[in-house]
Formats: sequence, C-alpha cells, structure tokens
Amino acid sequence: MNMMEVQNLCKVYEGKVAYRALTDINLTIRQGEFVGVMGPSGSGKTTLLNLVSTIDTPTTGNILIGGKDPHSLKINDLARFRRRELGFVFQDFNLLQTLTVEENIVLPLTLDGESVKVMDEKLAIVAKKLGIDHILKKRTYEISGGQAQRAAIARAIIHSPKLLLADEPTGNLDSKSAKDVMETLSTINQKDGTTLMLVTHDAVAASFCNRVIFIKDGQLYNEIHRGESRQVFFQKIIDVLSLLGGNAHDLSTIRV
Ligand SMILES: Nc1ncnc2c1ncn2[C@@H]1O[C@H](COP(=O)(O)OP(=O)(O)OP(=O)(O)O)[C@@H](O)[C@H]1O
Ligand SMILES: [Mg+2]
Repeated sequence: MNMMEVQNLCKVYEGKVAYRALTDINLTIRQGEFVGVMGPSGSGKTTLLNLVSTIDTPTTGNILIGGKDPHSLKINDLARFRRRELGFVFQDFNLLQTLTVEENIVLPLTLDGESVKVMDEKLAIVAKKLGIDHILKKRTYEISGGQAQRAAIARAIIHSPKLLLADEPTGNLDSKSAKDVMETLSTINQKDGTTLMLVTHDAVAASFCNRVIFIKDGQLYNEIHRGESRQVFFQKIIDVLSLLGGNAHDLSTIRV
C-alpha cells in the first residue's frame, strides 16, 4: 500500500519576487518505508516536508496520505488528521519549556481529550522505548540535547502515527546522540512499522534509511536504495552528494 503519493507537486512562494521552490515533484512512499530526503541548502527539502505535513499548501499538484488528500479537508478535520495520523520531529525539538518532559510527551493526547489511564499507559510504553523513564519529571532545560530529541520523538509517536516526518532531527546533536536518535527511528520503523520521511544533511543519518531521494533546485535529482550494508550505503550517499555539489555546509555535518 502507498502511504504517501505526491503528484506533479509545485510550490511557488509569492512575494515581491515570486520564487519557485519545487517543480513537478512525483514521489511515492510505500507503507513501512524509511525514506531520506537530501539536497543542498535551499533545494526545497523543508518546503516538501511542510507540504506533506500540511503546514503549507501546494501551488499545484496533489498529495495523498493513506489515500486521502489532507489539503482538501476543512480546518477542524485537518487539525484532527494531523493530530491523529501524523507525527513531527524538528531540529530544535519544539518542546514547551514550561512543561515537564512527561507533560510534553502526552500533549497530543491531552489535546485529543484522551483519558488519564490511557495516557499513562501510552507514556510508559514510549518512555521505555526511548530510554527516558528516569527524566520524565524534569523540565526541558534540565535535560541534554539528545534527551530532548528523544522526548520529542516520544511525543511524536505516542499516538502511533501512520507517517512520521522529521526535519533535521539530528541537526543539533553531537555524533553519539545523533546515532542514538537514528537507531531509535530505525527501530520505530522496523518494530512498529511506522512509515518515516526524514530530511537531513547528515550522510550518516541518511544511511539508516531504506531509500534516499536527492533534490536539486526544487527538482528530483536521483534516488538510491540501501542494500545489506549501511556502510556501503553511506559511501554511495557521499558519492551522490559530491556529484550534487552545493555548498560546504552540506558536507560539514558528515560524521563517520
Ligand atoms: N516562506 C518562504 N517565502 C519565500 N521563499 C521561501 C520561503 N521558504 C523557503 N523559501 C525559499 O525556497 C527555497 C527552498 O527553501 P527550503 O527551506 O525548502 O530549503 P531546504 O532545502 O530545506 O534548505 P536547508 O537545507 O537550508 O534547510 C529557498 O530558496 C528559500 O529561500
Ligand atoms: Mg530545511
């Protein structure tokens, strides 16, 4: 089954000078896939993710998630769709500072009016999965970046989303924490069957995916599939990145 279908997607940012950020993107992600999106800075990766996550609307073209077009939903239905079917992880964690780790994690369920009993059960499961049981009562400023990102992932998966979307989730982490986060995402993909779409500059992070698509100047440039070995895939990713060009920033985050 196709989890996500993107058809002839275009995005033009209107403004004093209109800017075409995406041109004619066609992309299918099957249920259970773990897909990476790479490309130089400004190539349109976040734009693509924001259209899929319904944060922004396409100029032309279609996006189907689980066979449904979320952009055709009325505002309340769209909010519910996002809350129930999608999960988001961001580079800067987006945790609320005034809440504890635990309160942050259950927030999507609180918003959905879930009972305390169910919330506690689900919290226990995700906290164990992410290895953050011992920091649940802490405030977000009392934990490390790696812990904050694991808390953010716990929050993103507590409602068992069909599709988990991540924009540079390892961008603010040291290499050890980044690897932990990628291993966790990989486990969520394999054990829970959650479909994942991950935007990253980091070739190591991308090497955890089943498939990596490359975007250049708002268009699909290439895609490569992982075979048996993550190390070999990593090398292939580096090779495409060097063909792709772009600025030094794209290579600055590479960790081996
Ligand atoms: N709201 C906006 N209004 C106008 N132009 C925008 C807007 N958001 C992004 N752009 C432009 O669209 C292009 C693609 O931006 P996008 O954020 O998708 O790039 P990216 O691939 O995520 O880059 P990075 O790797 O630096 O995060 C860029 O040239 C950017 O300047
Ligand atoms: Mg971006």
